[in-house]
Amino acid sequence: MDNALKDALKAVPGVDEAVGLVRYLQYRQALRNALASEPQASDLPPPHLRYRVHRSFDIAEYVATGRDVASSISNAFAAAGPTLHGKDVLDLGSGPGRVARWLKDLHPTMRLTCVDIDDEAVSWGQEHAADIARFLRGDPHPPSAFPPGTFDAVYCISLFTHLDEPMQDAWLGEIRRLLRPGGLLLATTHGEFATGSCSEEELERLQRHGIVFRTTRKRRIKLDGLPGFYQTTFHTRNYVEAHWSNTLEVVAYLPGGIQRHQDTVLLRRPAD
Ligand SMILES: C[S@@+](CC[C@H](N)C(=O)[O-])C[C@H]1O[C@@H](n2cnc3c(N)ncnc32)[C@H](O)[C@@H]1O
Repeated sequence: MDNALKDALKAVPGVDEAVGLVRYLQYRQALRNALASEPQASDLPPPHLRYRVHRSFDIAEYVATGRDVASSISNAFAAAGPTLHGKDVLDLGSGPGRVARWLKDLHPTMRLTCVDIDDEAVSWGQEHAADIARFLRGDPHPPSAFPPGTFDAVYCISLFTHLDEPMQDAWLGEIRRLLRPGGLLLATTHGEFATGSCSEEELERLQRHGIVFRTTRKRRIKLDGLPGFYQTTFHTRNYVEAHWSNTLEVVAYLPGGIQRHQDTVLLRRPAD
């Protein structure tokens, strides 16, 4: 279906809600199937927690993506200079540790803290993955409870892809506070590789403003179980380089750096 037709259909009252309901019913059925077919004792999070961070029930894909993303993070930090070995590292928006598990494998001596607002994911991590990181519940809005300069590096996979601009700016400022001078932030965005689902109107807004926070699907039943502020955001490279550099220094921008889908941005807290 072309984008113009999609836009026209979405404008018909009730169509978007109906699409949301169908998707929800499909999700419930797929969840039942996953629960019935998966082994009970597993070192993987239960299907609904995997779905929240991965949007699929496929176990092999969940594992492979976690491993692949961890390897991309490790390479991006290494290319920017410092190794993560022996460092204090924060995974902000970690979920149950899909990526953290593999990053810890690559850097066994790093001291990893995983923070998320999702109580269930944090509890699962505390119970099943305490050997890789300390899992802590965070608040949606900064400031966090950590003292200034707690971390050498912070990474946020698929977090800024879901927050609106004021929340992003607030978190960029908070991450600056949490980083030691010279410390690095790696964050991902929905850039040029990820606009396939955008409507014509969204693409136009993206060109004009450099950022689009999609709220048109707010009336749908949320499948991720996360609060209403958590929607979908798209950025242009120009926007990120111009706007985020008000808070941190942009040191690298890798289009499609995460699975040729999300862009990777590396930022540094300048020395004071
Ligand atoms: C798409 S998931 C990605 C999870 C993980 N980074 C990964 O790649 O597997 C986004 C995560 O961000 C969390 N999140 C959303 N807003 C947050 C906030 N303000 N602070 C911390 N975590 C947040 C969600 O609960 C969710 O677990």
